[in-house]
Amino acid sequence: MKKLLTIAATLGLISAASVAVQASPQQDLKEFRAYFAERFPDVPFKEYVNGVYSIDQASREQWEAIEEFPPYELNIDNGKQAFNTPFKNGKTYASCFRNDGVGIKQDYPYYDNATGKVVTLEAAINECRSDNGEEPLKWQKGEIADISAYMSYTSRGNKTNVVVPGDEGAMAAYTRGKNHFYAKRGQLNMSCADCHLWNAGNRIRADLLSPALGHTTHFPVYRSKWGGLGTMHRRYGGCNKQVRAKPFKPQSDEYQALEYFHTYMSNGLVMNGPGARK
Ligand code: HEC
Repeated sequence: MKKLLTIAATLGLISAASVAVQASPQQDLKEFRAYFAERFPDVPFKEYVNGVYSIDQASREQWEAIEEFPPYELNIDNGKQAFNTPFKNGKTYASCFRNDGVGIKQDYPYYDNATGKVVTLEAAINECRSDNGEEPLKWQKGEIADISAYMSYTSRGNKTNVVVPGDEGAMAAYTRGKNHFYAKRGQLNMSCADCHLWNAGNRIRADLLSPALGHTTHFPVYRSKWGGLGTMHRRYGGCNKQVRAKPFKPQSDEYQALEYFHTYMSNGLVMNGPGARK
């Protein structure tokens, strides 16, 4: 009996410990949301998918006018065409994805135990190409952004559902991304959090800073400044440069980890990509 109790107690301890570890991203998420709920008490949770337009009525009206004739429409068409055009071996992208690649963006990025890597949607697109004997696409714009836009478009309305299992590898990637988000960098010595958390809603030069909550729902984004569509890692590079930090390479482990944390923070918000921004 005593032995059994000891075992039970040990098991109890073990499961309590693993719950504590697993609870941490969930706890982060809770605090992240609570912070914005307090900062912008009039903004409903589901509104955050609209970035800066969720908190700024003036620019929202211009943006709504733009969204009536979306500048990314052609990109979705091109992406759809590329997605359905067979590779030289006769297969298509659909063969690489769950549900033939339709309506699945909400599950990305995810942690792949077999490779020990975070898999972003763009990484999966290029992986599909190399598995089928095709050259990889360039990462930040062009065809990969179009395909990503099409896949995002088919996922509209699905809720962000990034999973961080409690095991070591996934937790390490999540923590790396979280550290990136809060780490000060560059000559300006500023973190993502400095601009998109603590100063969300404040102006920096001519720009109003968007809340980080909801950042990931609408990518890739057609940006007037870019004159075209760009992926999330293009945006990360731009934001790193704003503080005069050297950007990391697109799809580097660092940005993949950042996207993992960043997207997890928007769990529960619907996908509404691609989006348009000035
Ligand atoms: C010096 C301030 C500053 C820092 C630091 C900064 N950004 Fe930004 N970021 C901006 C500005 C300005 C914009 C354009 C206006 C907006 O949407 O906030 C922007 C836009 C974005 C967008 C696009 C939002 C949308 O709705 O399309 C994302 C995503 C983003 N930043 C992520 C990040 C991440 C992740 C980091 C850390 C690597 C970061 N930013 C660091 C200033 C900053």
